Amino acid sequence: MSKSYRVAILGATGAVGTELLELLESRNFPIANLKLLASERSVGKTLKFKGENIPIEPVTEQAFENVDIVLASAGGGTSKTWAGVAVAKGAVVIDNSSAFRMHPEVPLIVPEVNPQAAASHKGIIANPNCTTILMTLAVWPLHKIKPVKRIVAATYQSASGAGAKAMEEVKTQTRDILQGKQPVAEVLPYPLAFNLFPHNSPLTDLGYCEEELKMVNETRKIFGSQEIRITATCVRVPVLRAHSEAINLEFETPFNPDEARAILSQAPGVKLVEDWQTNHFPMPIEASGQDEVLVGRIRQDISHHCGLELWLCGDQIRKGAALNAVQIAELLIEKNLLQSTTA
Ligand SMILES: NC(=O)c1ccc[n+]([C@@H]2O[C@H](COP(=O)([O-])OP(=O)(O)OC[C@H]3O[C@@H](n4cnc5c(N)ncnc54)[C@H](OP(=O)(O)O)[C@@H]3O)[C@@H](O)[C@H]2O)c1
Repeated sequence: MSKSYRVAILGATGAVGTELLELLESRNFPIANLKLLASERSVGKTLKFKGENIPIEPVTEQAFENVDIVLASAGGGTSKTWAGVAVAKGAVVIDNSSAFRMHPEVPLIVPEVNPQAAASHKGIIANPNCTTILMTLAVWPLHKIKPVKRIVAATYQSASGAGAKAMEEVKTQTRDILQGKQPVAEVLPYPLAFNLFPHNSPLTDLGYCEEELKMVNETRKIFGSQEIRITATCVRVPVLRAHSEAINLEFETPFNPDEARAILSQAPGVKLVEDWQTNHFPMPIEASGQDEVLVGRIRQDISHHCGLELWLCGDQIRKGAALNAVQIAELLIEKNLLQSTTA
C-alpha cells in the first residue's frame, strides 16, 4: 500500500495557503490527515478540501502533534515562532517565508534547479523568494551550458505578491478611482491602481530594498555560486496576479539566441511563448494559474557581444510559492527524506 502523510498548512487562509490547498487536491497529494492553521481571526471559519469542510484551527504546540509535513505560509515571524516547535515534534517544515532562507543549514530549493540540496535538510527547508524562483527557472538551464557572469533584473510585481488583502485593495482602489473617489492605501504604502512604485520591502544601507537583495543572495545560494554578479530593481505594478521580469544576462562567451531558445523550449518548468509576427510574448494574464514560467523575447543584447535579453512572466503564488513548496514535499517523499510517515 502506498504511504500517505499527515499535512498541516500554516497560514491556510492566505493567498499562498489557499493555493496550497488547491494544489494538494489537484495533484492528488497522498494525504492521511490535513490540518488547516491560521490566526485567531480565522478560527470558526472552514475551507473546502475534496468536498469536505475543514475547520481552521489556531496555532498551538498541540497543533503540530502527529504531523509529518508543515507547509508554512504565515509570514516570517510566525515561522520563526513555530517552525522549531513543529520540527521538535517530528515534522518537516517547508517554509514560504524569508525566515530561514539564508541560514547555512537550511536548504533553499527550486526542485528543477537544485533538488540534491534536500538531502541535507535538518527539519526545515526554505522555499525561495517568488521573483527568485521565477528567474532561476529561466536562467539555470542556460547557466548549465555556459556560465552566467552577471545578471541585471528588473521586476514588475503584482499586488498579490503582498498577500490576499493587497489584491483586494487594488480592486477597491480601481473602483474608487473610476467613480471619481480618492483611492485609499492601507495594506500597501501608496495607491497601486493606475500607478506603480519601487518595491515596498524595507530599504537597506546599500540603497537596495530587501526584495532586491533576496534576488541577489538567494540566486547565488540556489546556484551554488557566489561569483555571479547580480543586480535587481523591483517594482510593484497594478497587476493582480503573476510577476514579470526583464532579465539581462552576460555570459563568459557569446550565447546564440536560437541556442538559448532551443534550450529553454526543453527546460523543466518553462514554457516558451514567442510569436514575433504578432508581438505575442509572455503576459501576466496568460501566466496566471499556470504551473510553468512563460519565457520569451529572447534576443542578442546589442550593447554586449556576450549578452542576452529575455522576458518572463510567472504566477508567483503558484510556482513562486505554493507549487514550489508542494514539489519540495513530493521530492521528499520520492527520495524518502521525511522523518516519519504513516502507512
Ligand atoms: N503572495 C505571494 O505571492 C508570496 C510568494 C512567495 C512567498 N510568500 C510568503 O508566503 C507567506 C504568506 O503570504 P501570503 O501572500 O499568503 O499572505 P496573506 O494572504 O496575507 O496570508 C497570511 C496568512 O498567514 C496567517 N497568519 C498571519 N499571522 C498569523 C499568526 N500570527 N499566526 C498564525 N497565522 C497567521 C493569516 O491568517 P488570517 O487569515 O487568520 O489572518 C493567513 O492565513 C509570507 O511569508 C510571504 O512572504 C508570498
